[in-house]
Order: sequence, then structure tokens, then C-alpha cells
Amino acid sequence: MRSQLFKTRITEMLGIRHPILCGGMGPSVSDAKYVAAVVNAGGMGFIVAAGFPDPDAFREQLRKCRELTSGKGFGVNLYISSHDKASERLQEQVKILAEENVHCVETSGASPESVLPMLRDAGIKILHKVPAVRYARSAARLGVDAVIVVGNDCGGHPGTYGISSMVQAAHAPEEVSIPIAIGGGIGTGRQLAATLMMGADAVLMGSRMLVAEELWIHREYKDLLVRNDGTESVVVKTGLRQHHRVLNNESAKNVAALDAAGANDFEHYRPHVMGSLATQAYVTGDSSLGMLDYGPSVVFANSVQPVEAILDEILDDAHRAIRRLETLC
Ligand SMILES: Cc1cc2nc3c(=O)[nH]c(=O)nc-3n(C[C@H](O)[C@H](O)[C@H](O)COP(=O)(O)O)c2cc1C
Repeated sequence: MRSQLFKTRITEMLGIRHPILCGGMGPSVSDAKYVAAVVNAGGMGFIVAAGFPDPDAFREQLRKCRELTSGKGFGVNLYISSHDKASERLQEQVKILAEENVHCVETSGASPESVLPMLRDAGIKILHKVPAVRYARSAARLGVDAVIVVGNDCGGHPGTYGISSMVQAAHAPEEVSIPIAIGGGIGTGRQLAATLMMGADAVLMGSRMLVAEELWIHREYKDLLVRNDGTESVVVKTGLRQHHRVLNNESAKNVAALDAAGANDFEHYRPHVMGSLATQAYVTGDSSLGMLDYGPSVVFANSVQPVEAILDEILDDAHRAIRRLETLC
């Protein structure tokens, strides 16, 4: 593992060596094994709570991660929904996090207001992920510990504004005084260095990490990502205003056709967006069907590697970028 290159408010807050966060990847892509690899390599990872709907299976993941990290702190991704039924499940998830001494959460979706008191009482750090700086401002007012601002390049849900990560990275530190991580399209150390220079405290990556050896997803899918150059990434589901950046496969093309036709009834979308299709793709390696979260930063994934090797490459690259800048001053 590389020695510490950067000390930021986020490395200090989370007790990690490097300002690198690896965002939660559902449904169960970022599991205990992967998250532990990220933590052991000096970053912070997040197990996706929603990927393990059975409370016992979820608890098992948390215990496995704690064991694999020899008690180092690790994170959980919590999807915040405003529906009542989901809110009951969320309360149950937070209770488990508190009982299992989870270190931090990456919250995404709606406002985390309803679970903030419980998380705070349990001493869990809250990093709220938002797709635009305006939501970072409101999250900071609520009292979260840090915000993660993702730009339009991000695999998954970039929000509806379509603002690039470059703009968000420059804008967020002007608006928010709490620690900030920037995500969306990041996969190199040059970007890490630039993001820190712009005022952020960490980067967040997802798509770049899909080729990590420790991920259980099928090798054929990882090999496809290595061959691809990122131009296969497309934003669909705009008809429902649930913009989703995914691999441009058969399902994505069907969803894009529904968007273009002005469809706005979820029932028309359902056959193409069912979560079971994505799971099937990750299990079999046949990626023709399913909404497979996928950002253009896969262009930086040139081989299947262990997490630590990926992080080390990024840190070496950041170091080179900073040296280069020094020669320009
Ligand atoms: C395969 C995959 C699954 C994801 N699943 C989730 C999820 O369940 N919850 C979430 O908040 N973000 C999810 N994301 C988004 C990531 O946590 C992160 O915000 C995003 O990948 C950063 O942008 P990047 O892909 O350009 O690195 C997912 C991303 C990928 C690539």
C-alpha cells in the first residue's frame, strides 16, 4: 500500500490513508469482500444495504467486512426513499448499522433528515451524495458530515441537471464549507490531483472499479469493460425523470425508445428495468439485458486488477501530475 500522499479533512474524518472513496454499487456488487479490499488499500468503501434485503444476510456482510478489515472502519450505502414502506426498512437498516458499529454511511436518494438523529447517536459519519451543488447546500444545512457531489459523467443516477463533474468540482467548494468529495467520471490520479486542487477533500469512484479482481461479477463482463472505451455509456429513463447512466445494451435501447416516444408510465418501462435483469447479467456475464450502471470512466480500466493495484496506480499518477504542475509554476 502506498504511503500517505494527501491529508485532507476526509482522510482525517474517516481515518483513511488516501482521499479515495469507492461508492456503493448495487444491487449487491459492492459486497463485504470488495469493500474490505478498498479499506485495506487505504480508501473507503460502502456495502449497499439495499442489496441485502434480508436483515440477517445484511448483518452477515457487515460482520464479514469487519473481520476482513481486522476491525478498521468501513461504510454502508443507504438508499433514502420517501415511501413509507421503504422508510420502515431504512429504520431497520440504521438500527443494524448502530448495533454492528459501522463507521460511516454514504446516503443517496432523498434527504437523509429522517435518519440523521439515529445515525448521529450511533456515532456514524454521514456523507450524503447529491447530483448538484444546490442539494449539497441543503445537506450541509441539515448537518451531514460531508457531501459527495457527483457530476453528469457518473455511472448510476446523475440527476436531471446534466452538470459536469468539472463544473461541480469547481463550484462546490465555493458554496459548501463542510468536507466535499467529487465523483463522476473519475478514474485517474490526474483527476484526483485536479479535484483536490479545486478544493475538494476526496474523490469518489464507481465505474472505474468494476474491473477489480475482488468483485464477484462475471469475468466476461470485466473483460468487456477493459475492451470498451466509455462511448457505450448512455443516459436513459429520462421520460420518468429518473435519469440513469448505464451501458447502452438492448434494455437501454428499449428504454431510450420509450423516452423518445414520450412514455411516462412506469409499467411500460418495467420489463426492461427490473433489477433481476442486472443481477442476471453480472452473474452470467451476458450484459445484453438489464440497467447496468456504467460511466465513461471505464475508459481508464485497462486491465482486471486487485483493488490495491488500482488505487496505487491512481496515487502514482496523482503524484506525477503534481510534479508536472510544479514544473509549470
Ligand atoms: C455498477 C454500479 C452500481 C451502482 N449502484 C449504486 C447504488 O446502489 N447506490 C448508489 O448510491 N450509487 C450507486 N452507484 C453510483 C456509485 O456509487 C458512484 O456514485 C458513481 O459510480 C460515481 O461515478 P463513476 O461511475 O463515474 O465513477 C453505482 C455505480 C455503478 C457503476
